[in-house]
Amino acid sequence: MPFETFLLERNQSLYENDVEINLTESGVEPMTLAELLSPEDQTALMNVRLGYNYTEGTPELRDAIASWYPGATADNILVTAGTAEANFITYWTLMEPGDAIAMMLPNFMQFSGLAAAFGHDVRPFSYVQSLDGWTLDFAALEAALADGKVRVVAIVNPNNPTGTVMTDEDMRRIVALAEKAGAWIVSDEIYRGSELDGRPEAPTFYGMGDRIIVTSSTSKSLAHAGLRLGWTAGPEAVVAALMERQDYTTIGTGPMNQFVAARLLEPAGREKILARTRSIIATNLHIIDEWIGRWNGRLSYRRPHAGGMAFISYDWPVGSAELSRLARERESVFVVAGEWFGMDGHLRIGTGGEPEMLEEGLTRLDRLLASL
Ligand SMILES: Cc1ncc(COP(=O)(O)O)c(C=O)c1O
Repeated sequence: MPFETFLLERNQSLYENDVEINLTESGVEPMTLAELLSPEDQTALMNVRLGYNYTEGTPELRDAIASWYPGATADNILVTAGTAEANFITYWTLMEPGDAIAMMLPNFMQFSGLAAAFGHDVRPFSYVQSLDGWTLDFAALEAALADGKVRVVAIVNPNNPTGTVMTDEDMRRIVALAEKAGAWIVSDEIYRGSELDGRPEAPTFYGMGDRIIVTSSTSKSLAHAGLRLGWTAGPEAVVAALMERQDYTTIGTGPMNQFVAARLLEPAGREKILARTRSIIATNLHIIDEWIGRWNGRLSYRRPHAGGMAFISYDWPVGSAELSRLARERESVFVVAGEWFGMDGHLRIGTGGEPEMLEEGLTRLDRLLASL
């Protein structure tokens, strides 16, 4: 079976704990259990029994997740070990030998790596940089769908790494094209709820058609990647099929994590944590704006609509993986190379951490860039 290293994840795992300033995170500073849970919930957590419990997720948690998707019930939800498992078992369930996948680029590259391993044809359709943002290349999507071989159209919305939120019109257009081609839409919506500049919450693809599966988790907008708690939301029959695949992967997630995630995801808890997220990333994005401004055009970006990250293009004759390495080795600052998303000439800088850390990281990057 051919195998491609998952560059973003591998590099993060290799280096993120060894640097003084890690700016590769696209999620938000997590809280401790003591900060997150009321005294009553802390006591209740101590009484959670550590068996397999509900492998598909407790009814309480599945209800809480379903409440974020119009028209969904617990039967439309399967709880997974992060979006990573949700994406994996969705891919494994839907894709057959000989199928192709249409993949939005840039993208968190899990699906392209899986396609390489399973031997599926990848047909990209890109966000192209325009003056005021990023525009989807619909001609490429139409061409990808023309021969009817595409089983899955893979979306990340809000997008990683650009932070773009798709317009309602583009969403409807994608749904219509996928329906006509008989393809599924798999929409990774892990950054939903972290919108900037007073934007409304990004709409979900869930419910926009019969063949739509949404994946997400508590890792990014909901700020708690350490719970390793995600989900798929989709038609009941597919969710039942996904459960059968999960029997071969993790069997299910831990009851402690499910207990905590239910507190995060019930509507009032969710609104509270999302408001905290939006406030943290807005403060940090302001710092990024000022930093970019100081470089008089040598750094530039399309301001993100959502997500804890800024995707910045730079004007120095050095590859992005090399620039990331230099920053790490010379200044102990770790940033994501655009190359790991297939977009060299860019760096992705996380905006979900402590503002002081971000300021210090940018000062060190200034020193490095000035020396090049
Ligand atoms: C778009 C996207 N999907 C999935 C993941 C993996 O997330 P999780 O921690 O939920 O497995 C990430 C992590 O960076 C991501 O950016």
